[in-house]
Amino acid sequence: MIALVNLITIKERYVMKKSSLTLFALASLTATQYATAFEQGDLILRAGFATVSPDDASSNIVVGSDLGVNVAVDSNTQIGLNIAYFLTDNINIEVLAATPFTHDVNFGVSDPLGTGDQLGEVTHLPPTVTVNYYFNDASSKFQPYIGAGLNYTIFFDEEFTSANTAAGLDDLSLDNSFGLAAQVGADYMLNDKWFVNASVRWIDIDTEASFNLNGADGSVDSIEIDPWVYSVTLGYRF
Ligand code: NI
Repeated sequence: MIALVNLITIKERYVMKKSSLTLFALASLTATQYATAFEQGDLILRAGFATVSPDDASSNIVVGSDLGVNVAVDSNTQIGLNIAYFLTDNINIEVLAATPFTHDVNFGVSDPLGTGDQLGEVTHLPPTVTVNYYFNDASSKFQPYIGAGLNYTIFFDEEFTSANTAAGLDDLSLDNSFGLAAQVGADYMLNDKWFVNASVRWIDIDTEASFNLNGADGSVDSIEIDPWVYSVTLGYRF
């Protein structure tokens, strides 16, 4: 009888050990499937929202003489897209794209011309190429990075408000801008394919505006938009 009990115990232990091994094997398999770190050759796509929040400063509006009033640029949120390719396990090259951002441009003081507080609006696309360095701790789902690159901002659809147009303002045009960009960001791996991302970037966007007021040339010689760009996106690794 004692021998039989021992035999049952041994059998139970064996079964337990076997199931523990099975669990261990499953866990290892899962760990392999959810290996998180990016690798050389990975292509990733992210889509979500991007807010361009200007940290702006401008010179005064000049039409013949200095009018003593500058301009300010409001923030705007659009769909943000970016695609990145890993050149090594730690370094990727990323292209930022978005649907066009449209910003209200306001007078620096309230209603200086009797035409309201808003001067007009401008639309732009800020394609940016950035090289990013990942710290890439392979065991972590949290993958932070820093990056630096170049931006080209294309302005279009520059227009005055109807009140300013009625007051004789016309032909608003902003120069395109070429400048540096820098960012910090992080991906958080949900599984081996999907991840979420948050990033903050700073872009040096400097421009100047030219326009016409009842036949006279006018300008704002320096408009520093220099925005902070905040992005929250969902990403996929191909
Ligand atoms: Ni600047």
